Amino acid sequence: MQLFIFLCISIAALVGWTNAAPTSSQRACNNSPSLCTKPYDMVTYLGAHDSPFLRDATTGYSSFGNQLFSTTTQLDAGVRLLSGQVHRKDGQLHMCHTSCAMFDAGPLRDWLEEVKRWMDANPTDIVTLILVNSDNVSAKEFADVYTAADIARFAYVPLSLDAPPPPSNETVRTWPTLNEMIDKNQRLVNFVAPLKPDAGVAPFLMDQWTFTWENTYQVTSPDSFNCAPDRPSNTSSIKAYQDSGRLFMMNHFLYWQQAFGIQVPDIRNINATNSWDGPGALGQHFMRCANELQRMPNYVLVDFFNVGPATNVIDIFNGVKEPIGRFGITATVVGGGAGVQANANGGRSWGASMIRTGTAAMVAGMLGVWM
Ligand SMILES: *[C@@H]1O[C@H](CO)[C@@H](O)[C@H](O)[C@H]1NC(C)=O
Ligand SMILES: *[C@@H]1O[C@H](CO)[C@@H](O)[C@H](O)[C@H]1NC(C)=O
Ligand SMILES: *[C@@H]1O[C@H](CO)[C@@H](O)[C@H](O)[C@H]1NC(C)=O
Ligand SMILES: *[C@@H]1O[C@H](CO)[C@@H](O)[C@H](O)[C@H]1NC(C)=O
Repeated sequence: MQLFIFLCISIAALVGWTNAAPTSSQRACNNSPSLCTKPYDMVTYLGAHDSPFLRDATTGYSSFGNQLFSTTTQLDAGVRLLSGQVHRKDGQLHMCHTSCAMFDAGPLRDWLEEVKRWMDANPTDIVTLILVNSDNVSAKEFADVYTAADIARFAYVPLSLDAPPPPSNETVRTWPTLNEMIDKNQRLVNFVAPLKPDAGVAPFLMDQWTFTWENTYQVTSPDSFNCAPDRPSNTSSIKAYQDSGRLFMMNHFLYWQQAFGIQVPDIRNINATNSWDGPGALGQHFMRCANELQRMPNYVLVDFFNVGPATNVIDIFNGVKEPIGRFGITATVVGGGAGVQANANGGRSWGASMIRTGTAAMVAGMLGVWM
C-alpha cells in the first residue's frame, strides 16, 4: 500500500510544542510511544555530525569543532545518531578530527564509555554510531575496545553482515521494531567505514557502505545541497540503492572554505542551514530527498545540532508531537571562535521549547511522501 502523506506545517504551530518530562508509565521509544512499533528502518534519526569534536571551552572554541555541546548533551536533547573519526595514536584508537596532531578528542574507549553510561540510564532508546575507520583498523581491534568499554552488550546483531535486508514496508518488517530492539537490549547499531566485517569476533560491526548510502557531503554553498548518491558510489542511482535495502544518510552541513584549502564547519549561517526554509534549509532539503527517494531519509546528519529547529524538523517527519523525557537546550550559538555572531551561555532544562528563534515567519511546508 502506498501511503500519501500531506503535511501542512506552520512555524507558529511548532513554537507551541514543548518537551514534556517523563510522566506516563507507557514506554517511550526514542522519546515517543508512537515510534515503538515502527521497524528500525522506518524511523528518521537526527545525527550529530562529528559528535565528539566540540567547539567549546575545552577546545578553545576551535573553528574545526562541529558541535557546541557534548555527546551526552546531544543524546539528552534527542540526537540518536553519532558520527566520528577514529585514528590510531600511540597504539590506541582515538577520536581525532582529520589528524590527532590537529584535533584529538581522546580515546575511543572513553567516548564509548560516555555513550554506554547514557544507554544504561536510558533503557528505551536506540542509538546508532558511525565510525570513520581512518587507519583501516580491523574489526577485532574495534571489538576489543567495545568490550573494554562494556558497550558491546548493547550492540544490535544483524542477521547477516553481507547485505542489508530489503526495505521494510507497511506490511512486511525486515528490520526489528524499536520495541523488539529494546526487549532484546540490542539498542546500539554500529557502522564502520570502511570495514572488513568479521562475524566471528565482531558480529555487530557492519560495514557502513554495505548497509547505507549517502548524498554529497562536501558542500560549501547553501544552494548546492542535493540528494545525489555520493558513497559508496556516485554512479549508482537512488532507485538502485533503495532496492538494495541500504539505509539513506542525508548529509546536511556546510563547510566554510578558508585559505590554503582548509575547510571548517560553517557556523556563520547555521540557524538558516538548520531551519525549515530559506537558503539551504534542512526542512526543504529533507522534503526534496524524501520526494526523490519516495521514502523518508533514515539519518540526517547536521553540525551544531542545537541551533535552529533541527530536532523539531525530525520530530515532525517522525510524526512525534510531544517528545517525552528530553532535555531542552539553548538554540543560541555559544560564544567564542571565528564566525560566531551571537554569544550566549549554553544551558539546558526540562520542558524548554526547542524553538527559540522568536521569528514571526510563517512557514508552510507541503510534502508528498510515499513511505
Ligand atoms: C513489502 O516488502 C516485501 C519484502 O521485501 C515485498 O515482498 C513486498 O512486495 C513489499 N510490499 C510493497 C507493497 O511494497
Ligand atoms: C584494509 O584492511 C583490510 C584487512 O582488514 C584489507 O583487506 C584491505 O585491503 C585494507 N584496505 C586498505 C585500503 O588498505
Ligand atoms: C564521481 O566521483 C568521481 C571521483 O571522485 C568524480 O571524478 C566525479 O566527478 C563524480 N561524478 C559525479 C557525477 O559527481
Ligand atoms: C541567525 O542568527 C543571527 C544572530 O543572532 C541573526 O543575526 C540572523 O538574522 C539569524 N538568521 C536567521 C536566518 O534567522
